[in-house]
Amino acid sequence: MLNAALRKVILSAADNAQVRRVVSKHGMRLGGARFVAGETMDECVRVLRELNDRGLYANTTLLGEAVRDEAEARAVADEYIVLVDRLAAEALRANVALKLTHLGLELSEGLAYDNLRRIVERGSFIRIDMEQSAFVEPTLRLYRRLRDDGFDNVGTVLQAYLYRTESDLEGLLPLRPNLRLVKGAYLEPPDVAYPKKTDVDAAYVRLLETMLRAGGYTAIATHDETIVEHAIRFADEHAVPNDTFEFQMLYGVRPQLQLDLAARGYKVLVATPYGPEWYPYLMRRLGERPANALFLLRNLTRR
Ligand code: FDA
Repeated sequence: MLNAALRKVILSAADNAQVRRVVSKHGMRLGGARFVAGETMDECVRVLRELNDRGLYANTTLLGEAVRDEAEARAVADEYIVLVDRLAAEALRANVALKLTHLGLELSEGLAYDNLRRIVERGSFIRIDMEQSAFVEPTLRLYRRLRDDGFDNVGTVLQAYLYRTESDLEGLLPLRPNLRLVKGAYLEPPDVAYPKKTDVDAAYVRLLETMLRAGGYTAIATHDETIVEHAIRFADEHAVPNDTFEFQMLYGVRPQLQLDLAARGYKVLVATPYGPEWYPYLMRRLGERPANALFLLRNLTRR
């Protein structure tokens, strides 16, 4: 209850100019670096290699969201192309996840598609993250368009907190999709998303079981140990092959659980973002666990 209220306060405060100024100035130094693998591609590649060396897979994201103009959106796609080529050249066990608003979705769907397609054409696996509920429809539309155009090296994300997700999943299953299932990280109104965490958790389990049984590829993206253990049990009981699912967690969150699952023989992928525009990403991580925000505040008052 208290956590839900604090989450709302943190996510709402993220838009406040003063909060943005203070966190942008001090956030990384005060503990934000725990969640972000640096501001440059070189720093990020070093972290990805360390994760690989510890038996973990990784994906990375150039942090940033809504762009201002077409040139900026194209420049973001250009950097992604350099990134996917570099991950392949360095033989890292790492792929890329990106946001369509970063590729220009708010400016035009055609622009976002062109940028996305240029990246997907490089041949590496690309996952399209899911953003606020207003973007779900165009995101699924562009995912389907890529699949219709013959690209199989692409996946997307479904959010358990949205009422619409069960029907979205049903519509996608005939494609044998590669889907990451998450609880959902944005502040959504009660007419589109379950307000109660227990309902979100129950929806997650229902969706997870449908996905595992359906025969596509499922990325179980959660740090919720009860759900992780449920997934393992369910996969065993229903003879779901181990190579049709993986666990995904965020860089800096439950690192020991990541290693323990890998040691038990499961594929674990650590989502490891980088880039100078880390502010909204960090604020969502603080919103998920208000204790993280207190940790940053404590470091601020200790200076
Ligand atoms: P829950 O919030 O119930 O947390 C379970 C436990 O995990 C907590 O008790 C705590 O111990 C730990 N934990 C969770 N978050 C933590 C944090 N930030 N810091 C410290 N501990 C934490 N969302 C979205 O809307 N679109 C997307 O595309 C993605 N993509 C994505 C990729 C990957 C790989 C992951 C893991 C998550 C996302 N998310 C996302 C975020 C997701 O929606 C959700 O907000 C977080 O995963 C937190 O929810 P959990 O499932 O971990 O459960």
